[in-house]
Amino acid sequence: TKGKSCSQPICCFLGVAVLLLVSTVQAEVCPPPCICKSPKGLKIQLIDCSSRGLKEVPALPASTRQLYLQNNSLTTVPNGVFDSLVSLEEVNILNNPWNCDCHILYLKLWLEDFKSSLTNLSCASPASIKGKPLSQLSGNELDGCRTLFPIKCLEFFWRDLVLIIFAIIALILMAYDLKHFRKLAVKLP
Ligand SMILES: *[C@@H]1O[C@H](CO)[C@@H](O)[C@H](O)[C@H]1NC(C)=O
Ligand SMILES: *[C@@H]1O[C@H](CO)[C@@H](O)[C@H](O)[C@H]1NC(C)=O
Repeated sequence: TKGKSCSQPICCFLGVAVLLLVSTVQAEVCPPPCICKSPKGLKIQLIDCSSRGLKEVPALPASTRQLYLQNNSLTTVPNGVFDSLVSLEEVNILNNPWNCDCHILYLKLWLEDFKSSLTNLSCASPASIKGKPLSQLSGNELDGCRTLFPIKCLEFFWRDLVLIIFAIIALILMAYDLKHFRKLAVKLP
């Protein structure tokens, strides 16, 4: 009968529980081309995505402890992609054609933070720094980082200059007006 349908609290509780379960299961799913290992009844801990021809870092479960991404076609990583991996203990991202422009800065800083031993992670492009270890490049040597700063500075410089010129013109006009007004006042009988 209708009274026995989902109007009882226990029913709603079960519904919410099932929804929560589904959403956590979805978040813990193994990214498609990779092989994952999880201890019995526990979340995914090892993700092996090595040698899969990947061009992008796949969605990674937060429970990841060991992450293997070596020997792929990764050129960069999106900003913040590793930030959610709070349990990470081991990572291998060697043997990828890293493009060391300004976008690689996140990876460089993250690797320094992680105190990873990947000191010989080398850049594949641009040509000027091909083969150089990422860890030995300063922000200034990364393509795009260098030009970004002066352009911003110049923008501020011109904006300030325009403001100052306007202020000076306004002052001159005010001074002129004042003089003109005095003359008028004198002329009046
Ligand atoms: C690297 O990956 C390719 C496939 O993308 C594979 O054929 C090759 O054997 C791998 N090399 C190593 C050293 O694992
Ligand atoms: C760094 O490169 C050296 C040889 O150039 C190699 O023996 C060492 O295993 C590399 N380190 C890592 C973490 O791959």
